[in-house]
Amino acid sequence: MQTIDATKVPYKTLSNGAKIPVIGLGTFGSDNYDAETIAQAVKTAIKMGYRHIDCASVYGNEKEIGVVLKEIFSEGIVTREELWITSKVWNDKHKQVVESCKQTLSDLQLDYLDLYLVHWPFPNFHAPKCDVTARQPDSIPYIHENYMNTWRQMESLVESGFVKNIGTSNMTIPKMKLLLRDCKIKPVVNEMEIHPHFQQPELYQFMKDNGVGVIGYSPIGSPGRPERDKTPEDTVDMEDPVIMAIAERLNVHPAVVCLKWAVQRGQITIPFSVKTDKMYTNLKGITEGPLTDKEMEQVSKIDKQCRLIKGQVFLWQHAKSWEDLWDLNGEITK
Ligand SMILES: NC(=O)c1ccc[n+]([C@@H]2O[C@H](COP(=O)([O-])OP(=O)(O)OC[C@H]3O[C@@H](n4cnc5c(N)ncnc54)[C@H](OP(=O)(O)O)[C@@H]3O)[C@@H](O)[C@H]2O)c1
Repeated sequence: MQTIDATKVPYKTLSNGAKIPVIGLGTFGSDNYDAETIAQAVKTAIKMGYRHIDCASVYGNEKEIGVVLKEIFSEGIVTREELWITSKVWNDKHKQVVESCKQTLSDLQLDYLDLYLVHWPFPNFHAPKCDVTARQPDSIPYIHENYMNTWRQMESLVESGFVKNIGTSNMTIPKMKLLLRDCKIKPVVNEMEIHPHFQQPELYQFMKDNGVGVIGYSPIGSPGRPERDKTPEDTVDMEDPVIMAIAERLNVHPAVVCLKWAVQRGQITIPFSVKTDKMYTNLKGITEGPLTDKEMEQVSKIDKQCRLIKGQVFLWQHAKSWEDLWDLNGEITK
């Protein structure tokens, strides 16, 4: 197997001084891959030179990933301190954050997480189980008081040492303003959908201005996302003529152009693949020469505001459409 010297992979320094590798391996297998396949991909990735893994309890594979992490440590491939491991609390556990984190630690066979995120700001206190596939009509909208109760538990995890850093995911500007106003420990990152056809420039700039790092998910346009997330309007980043032309000049896959653009823009990127060749292509792409200023500008102009992960499964009963999830109809005040 081809490998990359992990010391050649850049880091980004977060607001509290923590250093996170700019590329991590995603682990959401969608409807395409089982837990064991993803766990083996994690092992391959770490042997290859990846040092950052993006996990979540709802992906249903933390136990299997825990087994390979144990193997990796006992085989002396890396030490725990060399890895950055992220996980996320799912919507059904917003009132049991500490318990959920301890379950994740037990499943991953770790003593601490480098980063723990609130996966979505839409809790579901009555969910029958942790399940991303089921439509969840009992999900409720963002209520700041609820979120702060959740966030206080996140803060306690830092204080007790189970977690080194905490952050958010799928937050908007109005929600983040309220959290920044009321938090004791500031989120070090917001993990959010970003790819060339969905650049979220205002949200990105807001995070930057407020010292919140950005982890961009679905960075190459999530071609393997579940059918339930697809709509006829969705566009394909990797088939964009601008992306393809740059890929041709650099003699790389269009996916690599998306990843280079993300990192050069200042994001942390977490592409998913279980295929050794694709994992290698992506990691190598990040360590090789940059896009030119002109190419960065060209990519900045192909934003189509095409959100792929719309969150339809969380639509609460009185929401008219998925747009309501994203505060597109104005500020929230409480
Ligand atoms: N916080 C959140 O709410 C949230 C939401 C969504 C995702 N995420 C995280 O972000 C990660 C990545 O997002 P994603 O999985 O939606 O989308 P993605 O990384 O944009 O796309 C993954 C797909 O792209 C393909 N691919 C990867 N590298 C490639 C290459 N070099 N050439 C061609 N195809 C390539 C993979 O193919 P193969 O199937 O052939 O390997 C896979 O189907 C997830 O795994 C998860 O960890 C977080």
